[in-house]
Amino acid sequence: MSENLNEIRKGLVGVVADVSAVSKVMPETNSLTYRGYAVQDLAEHCSFEEVAYLLWNGELPDAAQLADFRKEEASNRAITPALHQVIRAFPHDAHPMDAIRTAVSFLGLEDPDTADTSEPATRRKAMRLLARIPTAIAAAHRASKGQAPVDPDPSLSFAENFFHVVLGKVPAPEVVKAFDVSLILYAEHGFNASTFTARTVTSTGADLHGAVTAAIAALKGPLHGGANEAVMHMLTEIGSPEKAADWLRGRFDHKALVMGFGHRVYKNGDSRVPTMTRYAEKMAEVVGDRRWMEMSRILAAEMLEKKNIHPNLDFPAGPAYHLMGFDIPLFTPIFVASRITGWAAHVIEQSADNRLIRPLSQYTGAAQRELPHR
Ligand code: ACO
Repeated sequence: MSENLNEIRKGLVGVVADVSAVSKVMPETNSLTYRGYAVQDLAEHCSFEEVAYLLWNGELPDAAQLADFRKEEASNRAITPALHQVIRAFPHDAHPMDAIRTAVSFLGLEDPDTADTSEPATRRKAMRLLARIPTAIAAAHRASKGQAPVDPDPSLSFAENFFHVVLGKVPAPEVVKAFDVSLILYAEHGFNASTFTARTVTSTGADLHGAVTAAIAALKGPLHGGANEAVMHMLTEIGSPEKAADWLRGRFDHKALVMGFGHRVYKNGDSRVPTMTRYAEKMAEVVGDRRWMEMSRILAAEMLEKKNIHPNLDFPAGPAYHLMGFDIPLFTPIFVASRITGWAAHVIEQSADNRLIRPLSQYTGAAQRELPHR
C-alpha cells in the first residue's frame, strides 16, 4: 500500500491497526471475549492458570494440559541470587512499577533464550516471566519495607502464591477467588496502549523481554494501568461517603479527571466492571469495612448522572486490592502479573505475521530554510 491517509486520528481513535484472534472488545454490547469465551464466564468458572493457557493456546486446557501448565509455572518461580541482589540495590522509595520494569529487563539478561525470537523460545520465555514476575514484585516491595523476601511455594496456585510471596500468608479462599477473578479480568484487552507498545516493539524484530519491559512502562501511566492506584488515592483523599458528592463537585469545577472513569472504547460501561464490583463488595463484607464501596457507589451514580461517564475496571479493582490487604503501590504491578499473559499472546501473534509498525506524522514545524551563513 503506497497511499498516504491524510486524516489525522489523534490518539489513533477508531483506527483499526491490525487483525487479532486473542480477544474481542464489543462496546456496542458492553462485552469482551477471550478466544471466544465471555470474560465474565471465565472469571466465574475458570482459574487464572486456565485463562493464561487459553490466551496462549487458543483453547481451554484439558485436565492433563492444565496440570502440566501449573507444574511448569510453579517450578519456574524462583529468581536468582543475582536478581535478588539487584533488587536490594533499588532505592527504597522506587515505585514498584519501575522496580518490576527493571527486574523484567534484568530477567532478559539472564534468560538463556533472550535473543531467540522463534515462537517456541518466546513461549518458554513467557512462561518464565509469568512465573517470576510475582517473585520479583514481592521481593522489591518487601525490600522497600526492609523485609526479607519470601520464597515462592510451588504447591500453591498462582493467586495463592502471590499472597504468599507478598504478604507471607495465604488468606481465606473467598479472598483468593476474588484476586483470581481480578487477574482474569485484567489479563487481556485488545490493542490497549501497553499491548500496542508490546506489538510495536515486537514488530521491529526485538525480543519478548524488550516488548514486556516497554509494555510495563506504558502500563504505569495514570491514564492506563496506573489508574487503579490513583482510584485508591482518590478514595483515601475523600475519606468518607458523606464527603463524596461534594468532593466530586470540586473536581467538576476544576474540569479535572476523575480516576477510574471513562474508557477509550467502552462509552456505555466497561464489560468487566459488574463482575469486579461484585467481588469488591464481597471483600468489603469479608473485611467488615463498607466505607470504600459506599463511596464508590456514590461517585459512580454522580458521574453517571452529571457526566454520563461510566467506571472502568480500575475503579472497583482499587478498593478490592486495598481490602485484600495490598499496599497501594502494588496495585499496578498486580496488573502486570496478569497482563503478561495478554502481552505474550500478542507478541506471538505479531511475530507470526509481522510487518514493521511505522505510522506517519504530518509535519508542522518551520518551513524548509537555508542555514545561516557560517
Ligand atoms: N473524568 C472526567 N471527565 C472525563 C473522564 C474522567 N475520568 N474521562 C473522560 N472524560 C471526559 C473528557 O474530558 C471528555 O470531555 P470533553 O468532551 O468535554 O473534552 C469526554 O469525557 C470524552 O473523553 P475522551 O477524552 O474522548 O476520552 P479518551 O478516550 O480520550 O480517554 C481515558 C479515555 C484516557 C481512559 C479517560 O477516560 C481518562 O483519562 N480516564 C481516567 C483515567 C483512567 O481511569 N484510566 C483507566 C483506563 S482503563 C484501564 O487501563 C484498565
